[in-house]
Amino acid sequence: MARKKIIAGNWKMNMTPSQAVKLVEELAPLVKNDEVDVVYCVPAIDIVPVVEAVKGSNVQVGAENMYFEESGAYTGEISAAMLVDAGVKYVIIGHSERRDYFKEDDALLNKKVKKAIEAGLVPILCCGESLEQREMGVTMDWIRFQIKSDLVGVTADQVKDIVIAYEPIWAIGTGKTATTEQAEEVCKGIRECIAEMYDQATADAVRIQYGGSVNAGNAAELFAQPNIDGGLVGGASLKADFGKIVCY
Ligand code: PGA
Repeated sequence: MARKKIIAGNWKMNMTPSQAVKLVEELAPLVKNDEVDVVYCVPAIDIVPVVEAVKGSNVQVGAENMYFEESGAYTGEISAAMLVDAGVKYVIIGHSERRDYFKEDDALLNKKVKKAIEAGLVPILCCGESLEQREMGVTMDWIRFQIKSDLVGVTADQVKDIVIAYEPIWAIGTGKTATTEQAEEVCKGIRECIAEMYDQATADAVRIQYGGSVNAGNAAELFAQPNIDGGLVGGASLKADFGKIVCY
């Protein structure tokens, strides 16, 4: 069965609540494509107004992060249950900015992935190599390490519903997209890794996005690759361009 493409915007730390609603309204007529899943991953404070603003449309809402504990003394954190109750469907876990600036390691990310699934959220699990790692020739070793560590204890049945985003760190926000061949090669490698860890049916079901300077000009070629099932889009998700990416 063909995998349905999933195209998600990652707004990062952009858009106040009122700007968020305005953006959603502006994008509404541009992102109508029922053939793909469209998701806006928005800052925590924008979740409630954005869920309200997308009601009745084809767009679903994601969070950019969450904490794995149920509730309690974790000042500043947001739980999976809070996200679910607010109407969130997806949650980005392990974005390279969180791994790097906020020192989130794979043991922590594994807990977050498991909690998200348990709560009924779909994790968008990010992985990706640095430029140094690519130049050293260890890209696939590194990605396999991330995927294997982040999915410890996750069953095949659970994995087939998650989304994995391959985002080479050197391509994020730099305007330097991976070539179509580079992106496809790693996404294919991730699928092979899932097949080894689980089985071929699970690998065939899991959706793998490419992220890193996706724009209106390169989306169609990237998404045409056999192992690329959509994109995680940063900068271009805050503009009308996102409509062109969704309707590639
Ligand atoms: P970019 O960001 O599209 O601005 O490169 C992608 C991401 O970080 O998810």
